[in-house]
Amino acid sequence: MSDLKTVLSEAVAAAFAAEGVDPALARVTPSDRPDLADFQSNGALAAAKALKANPRDLAGKIAERLSADARFASVEVAGPGFINLKLSDALLAERATEVANDAAHAGAATVAEPRQVVIDYGGPNVAKPMHVGHLRSAIIGESLKRLFRFRGDHVTGDAHFGDWGFQMGLLIVACGDEKLADAFMAEGDGPFPVDSPVTLADLDRLYPQAAGKAKEDPVFRDRARKATAELQNGRSGYRALWQHFVAVSREALKREYGDLSVDFDLWNGESDADPQMPEMLAHLKETGLLVEDDGAQVVHVAKPGETRKKKLADGSVIEAPSPPPLLVISSEGSAMYGTTDLATILDRKKALAPDLALYVVDERQAEHFEQVFRAAYLAGYAEQGALEHLGFGTMNGQDGKPFKTRAGGVLKLRDLIDQATDKARERLREAKLGDDLSPEEFEAIAHKVAIAALKFADLSNARTTSYVFDLDRFMSFEGKTGPYLLYQSVRIKSLLRKGAEQGLTPGAIVIAEPAERDLALTLDAFSTAVSDAYDKRMPHLVAEHAYRVAQSFSKFYAACPVLIAPDEATKRSRLALSAAALRQLEIALNLLGIDTPERM
Ligand code: ARG
Repeated sequence: MSDLKTVLSEAVAAAFAAEGVDPALARVTPSDRPDLADFQSNGALAAAKALKANPRDLAGKIAERLSADARFASVEVAGPGFINLKLSDALLAERATEVANDAAHAGAATVAEPRQVVIDYGGPNVAKPMHVGHLRSAIIGESLKRLFRFRGDHVTGDAHFGDWGFQMGLLIVACGDEKLADAFMAEGDGPFPVDSPVTLADLDRLYPQAAGKAKEDPVFRDRARKATAELQNGRSGYRALWQHFVAVSREALKREYGDLSVDFDLWNGESDADPQMPEMLAHLKETGLLVEDDGAQVVHVAKPGETRKKKLADGSVIEAPSPPPLLVISSEGSAMYGTTDLATILDRKKALAPDLALYVVDERQAEHFEQVFRAAYLAGYAEQGALEHLGFGTMNGQDGKPFKTRAGGVLKLRDLIDQATDKARERLREAKLGDDLSPEEFEAIAHKVAIAALKFADLSNARTTSYVFDLDRFMSFEGKTGPYLLYQSVRIKSLLRKGAEQGLTPGAIVIAEPAERDLALTLDAFSTAVSDAYDKRMPHLVAEHAYRVAQSFSKFYAACPVLIAPDEATKRSRLALSAAALRQLEIALNLLGIDTPERM
């Protein structure tokens, strides 16, 4: 059985058709007035207009046909011709049973034709510190990866590690100047030391220094540019040193992402597309797409007439192409950020043949992706529309500027997780939760609460909006927060455990009370929440649903005693409803990348 909206749409469409009305107009939506009805159809209004009939009369005739259907408890015409549908308890019980029995998907439908999907997210850089954009990308990307997989697609998550740009040249030159890596500075083919000459701490120190110096010192900057080009052109010592940078950074990042429950299928870097370069450049030249521009090589991506005003250095204003051309090879001979992105599209086409590639990257890179995607479509590396940039807003501090950690500097994932875990411990103690647990278990729970708070706070906002970092609010056990949802799931788990101790197991679901109806309707709505979140690439729709389940369960639990219900059958029915709610809540949280503890 499909979800109720689909089942009802079919029933109403059949009634429309029987009245000679276009069944496509029979749209059914959840009721605006849940006190009066479960669902409604407003289609008779448009249909009557088309037929030049009286809408109330037409709605009445359709309602009469529907009344004969035992699945409806009542069908009523309201206002100018709305049809209000109230479902029978039996239909709700049937649907709730189905949700309860669907251990894998808890009632959510999967796609008819699975696609090959690549999700490019995270995007951290070697040595360069992470910023909030990387954090949001990891959180949102992980959720989308899980959501697409849950719907049945074949998904590959790729970190697209930033390992090939100018920062590599900066680090090489900085290591050379500090005499940290003399053995790697020699020309020729080595062999070079297999142990890393630098630690993570060295990289953390060297990069900001070198980046600062490059801003002030043009000679240093040119040396770094030259080193970047030499690295990319294959100088062996530089490659060997660079591999150490990459390995040291990647290991640290893997640990931190692991703590966030973020996991990539591929840890490919920008450099992994390098082998595609000769073929790509030859092809772009052959097709006439790659052209010389002031010593550099570019691909023009704006169509004729697509221009915007641009102010030149001398103050004059010209109409410049918009988006600007994609810079493929700089005048120093280096591959640029856009070059590696274009080559990566070609690489993925060969390796994965994706139907769709989603790029979960800061909204501020929108123009970059517009340039890269247009170039890829022109070159035939992807089907028109198969590349999507999913931008997002910023996580801001209380001052309205992009969030910084306690130390005041750029974001350190480790700092952020520690800060959140401190707060989680504090809150758990205040709420007298976890008192009876061993110290190890308490720590594990504090960690889960911390991650749930950070992730839920992020994912409960629409992807495209910015929000303010407010740990006190994120960490509250009340309201729309991660900790509240964990607390609710733990409560249901404990209820089920108590039931089991009393020898009670979930039984046949019977729907009778209003709170049971409401819970059944909420469980039914999961399928739509998941498919809408998938279609719009908006995880907050799943977050909202998780919150609705928790609230609906809470009301149900207050109104309908479970373990002290009047009779055995009712106890077992309510246990089954509770178990279904728990399963759906856990699945929804899992789609957000949030793990629930057993107790707290
Ligand atoms: N490393 C990039 C940055 O720090 C993000 C990478 C995003 N993905 C991509 N395919 N360009 O801005």
